[in-house]
Amino acid sequence: MALKIIVAVSQNGAIGIEGSIPWRLPEDLKRFSKLTKGNSNNAVIVGRRTWESIPSKYRPLPGRLNIVLTRNAVDLDAWPSLSLYAALKKAKQWNCEDIWIIGGQSLYQEVMAKYVNRTDEFRLEAIHLTLIDAIVEGDTFFPFFDPMLFQKIDPERTQTSENGMTYKFLDYKRH
Ligand SMILES: NC(=O)c1ccc[n+]([C@@H]2O[C@H](COP(=O)([O-])OP(=O)(O)OC[C@H]3O[C@@H](n4cnc5c(N)ncnc54)[C@H](OP(=O)(O)O)[C@@H]3O)[C@@H](O)[C@H]2O)c1
Repeated sequence: MALKIIVAVSQNGAIGIEGSIPWRLPEDLKRFSKLTKGNSNNAVIVGRRTWESIPSKYRPLPGRLNIVLTRNAVDLDAWPSLSLYAALKKAKQWNCEDIWIIGGQSLYQEVMAKYVNRTDEFRLEAIHLTLIDAIVEGDTFFPFFDPMLFQKIDPERTQTSENGMTYKFLDYKRH
């Protein structure tokens, strides 16, 4: 079992604006789907606002245990969880291979604040980051993280999307 983050970030750290993602990058959606699905034995943990931003026809995300963090569980089509730790324990109970934190800002903040330096099975093991090669207006941001704690797995390579945007896939593994 490994706890991982997946996120797409602009050069100025923005991840969202007005409840959605400020860009459209089909290659990133493909990577998101491939990584989070894995061998169809993974969990995704998502904040309620991000959950609501996913069009209803795409949720729950297929082939993954979907856990939504909320303090006001309503009819969600997913497992509600009142805390991040309870969500992680649920994913462990289900013997999930990878547990993906898929946002938004509040979840990324909590994981980076509390799960980077743990010594148990819930330590954050990897960050899979798509760096959008642009400065973008945003109202939600990815928190700063200490690059010394993580090793970059592959060399950076700038790629160009079919829509002309440039971006890099960066994979960090905990030392
Ligand atoms: N670029 C990317 O890769 C990416 C990825 C994901 C999201 N985003 C963007 O991020 C933005 C949303 O971020 P956000 O911070 O506003 O919202 P969020 O993290 O998606 O959701 C926040 C909500 O989650 C629940 N929650 C959070 N922490 C909790 C905890 N510890 N225990 C129980 N419930 C908890 C609360 O729900 P209740 O209010 O129901 O209690 C809270 O209001 C959107 O713009 C979205 O598009 C970007």
